[in-house]
Amino acid sequence: MADDMRAMDAPTDGPSDPGPRHVAIIMDGNGRWAAARGLPRAAGHKEGVAALKRTVRGCAGLGVRCLTVFGFSTENWRRPADEVSDLMGLVRSYVASDLTGLAKEGVRIRVLGRREGLPPDIAAIVRKAERDTAHNDRFLLQVAFNYGGQADIVDAARRHAERVLAGEAPVDISEADFGELLSTAGAPPLDLIVRTSGEVRLSNFLLWEAAYAELVFQDILWPDYGPEALKAAIDEYQARERRFGGRPAQTAITAQTAKAN
Ligand code: IPE
Ligand code: IPE
Ligand code: MG
Repeated sequence: MADDMRAMDAPTDGPSDPGPRHVAIIMDGNGRWAAARGLPRAAGHKEGVAALKRTVRGCAGLGVRCLTVFGFSTENWRRPADEVSDLMGLVRSYVASDLTGLAKEGVRIRVLGRREGLPPDIAAIVRKAERDTAHNDRFLLQVAFNYGGQADIVDAARRHAERVLAGEAPVDISEADFGELLSTAGAPPLDLIVRTSGEVRLSNFLLWEAAYAELVFQDILWPDYGPEALKAAIDEYQARERRFGGRPAQTAITAQTAKAN
């Protein structure tokens, strides 16, 4: 599967493409959106699904080739049973209701996270969505569901240990090869993480992949989100300089020198 994903890794617009190609969103604030309107939290989650649909459809016009969204964390099991069941319903209502449209629009769906523990009907919906869109390569939509960054790293470490014990791999492993054992293997490198609702933390999302991603925190609550808000996050991303541990670009150095003189 990872090999097929690599088609989406190829630059499409040449070296001048400012990106980001891969955006991840922590869709937060559904509960507060509902509370502000005197509605049950479930109403916020329902509007959250509508926001997701708008945002996915807006990606094409913004040059984004891969979107990864956080739908349910391994820690969200701590919520009351009725809310957990509402959140499970997000997958039913999003993937099941929108699958045909997404498949036609060239979207490939991939669900990140542990399959064990998912209700059987959700696991079946996930399998079907991945199978029905497997041939698509225009856009990759990764939905993190029952996902935790630490759990994903532990699972990858376990897989590596199993290979070593079976004599199939040496103990030594490079960062690049370890990345191939994560559930995001083969997706384009992560450029930008957005979190809505004003919270400023990662909450166990894409910990490995976040290494050099830019972070943008927006005050908007997730049910109010859409292409315009995503464009604002992308504008902020494009105004930054990514250095990956290197030196500032020559233009910045020249400007600094001019100032010093
Ligand atoms: C995000 O909204 C949805 C999920 C966690 C799935 P919340 O339910 O966390 O909403 P707030 O943070 O309580 O407002
Ligand atoms: C993170 O949001 C998980 C998702 C958006 C699915 P939370 O609302 O669960 O995060 P915390 O608990 O505020 O850190
Ligand atoms: Mg929250």
